[in-house]
Amino acid sequence: MKITDLQNRIEEMVQWLAQFGADPEGGVTRLLYTSSWVEAQRALELKMKEMGLKTCYDEVGNLYGRLLSDQSAEGSILTGSHVDTVKCGGKYDGAYGILAGMLALQYLKETYGAPSRSLEVVSLCEEEGSRFPLTFWGSSNITGTAPVDKLNEVKDSRDIPFITAMKEAGFGLGHYCSPRREDVVSFIELHIEQGAILERNQMPIGIVEQIVGQKRYTIECVGEANHAGTTPMAWRKDALRGASEMITAILEAADRVGAPLVATVGKMTVEPNVSNVIPNRTVFSLDIRHPHAKVLDAFGEEAISLCHSIGEARELRMKVEKHLDALPVEMDPDLLRRVEGICQDQSLPYTIMPSGAGHDAQMMARHYPTSLIFVPSHKGISHNPDEYTSKEDLAAGVKVLIELLYQLGYKKETE
Ligand code: GLV
Ligand code: MN
Ligand code: MN
Repeated sequence: MKITDLQNRIEEMVQWLAQFGADPEGGVTRLLYTSSWVEAQRALELKMKEMGLKTCYDEVGNLYGRLLSDQSAEGSILTGSHVDTVKCGGKYDGAYGILAGMLALQYLKETYGAPSRSLEVVSLCEEEGSRFPLTFWGSSNITGTAPVDKLNEVKDSRDIPFITAMKEAGFGLGHYCSPRREDVVSFIELHIEQGAILERNQMPIGIVEQIVGQKRYTIECVGEANHAGTTPMAWRKDALRGASEMITAILEAADRVGAPLVATVGKMTVEPNVSNVIPNRTVFSLDIRHPHAKVLDAFGEEAISLCHSIGEARELRMKVEKHLDALPVEMDPDLLRRVEGICQDQSLPYTIMPSGAGHDAQMMARHYPTSLIFVPSHKGISHNPDEYTSKEDLAAGVKVLIELLYQLGYKKETE
């Protein structure tokens, strides 16, 4: 493969992977352990083999493609991202980091042969938390921080137990190795920005310094179903009315705190969901993010206390579950300087920036030196079928990744 082929190769590979879970709207839905997810991982496995990589799965379904070392250095350099998507997501979120890693390893193998330290690309099984409330399931198993003691209670929105879904997809059956990795020397994630900073500033590369902290909750309000015509307003225990007041109060409180705090209610179910019945049950999600742990903690407490006081006033029974509490995390400063040097050598304009989106890099960074590198997202659109990055920008990111992996995997420490 020639370096000049990278633009076409990366673009073709993005379109190729997007066929697994393709939506009629032009995007992708590839939820953890569904048939489209299984097809994508199997297809990636074959493609990795064709590209000269040694493949293997772990017990939770993370897929690795390995370029093994000539044994002169211990441990592995890992690159990659997640294969799952949100519902009606785009073609690039997660997929780009896996495909870029595969191309980089193929290029390095063809150009320089075996590295002195093993290089691996990983297609992480899950990051989004879209099907089950298990955000970062792939990377948290690698770092040994997954909530494995709670899995028996976890179900998707159709009440399919997590364990059943995992086993039906062929994992969790003792066929593969443990996901825990203690031998990772560095983790590198290449990802689309999912915001508009790079495009607006005409910067092809963003080097992430910090990823914001994030909390996610599921909030359940239970009232009483009753007749919509015969129950006076004052006598109702209307779960939807209570939930609406809670959502408005939380979002107004977020407006008062101001940027960079963000709060999102993106998911809600209403029961019985019938036009002439007062709703007896609502369940909604809350996602809050901020770069400072103290601000995030304080806002989380305020949001939940607002829910409880409104619930009490509306005579609703409340259940609040927090299923994600990720601290803000810094990326490795030495890797950041190294990526900066590469951008300067390649005459690529770059900026150093925070990430408001969650990434597997934030799980990995607590355990291994980690770098997160962004390429532009057109109009900053993501988690949407219109997600788009030009092939020039995709290839610029792959070239930076190739050089970084070359420096970490082939050059001796003293060079
Ligand atoms: C992951 O994409 C997130 O930030 O929600
Ligand atoms: Mn995403
Ligand atoms: Mn992502």
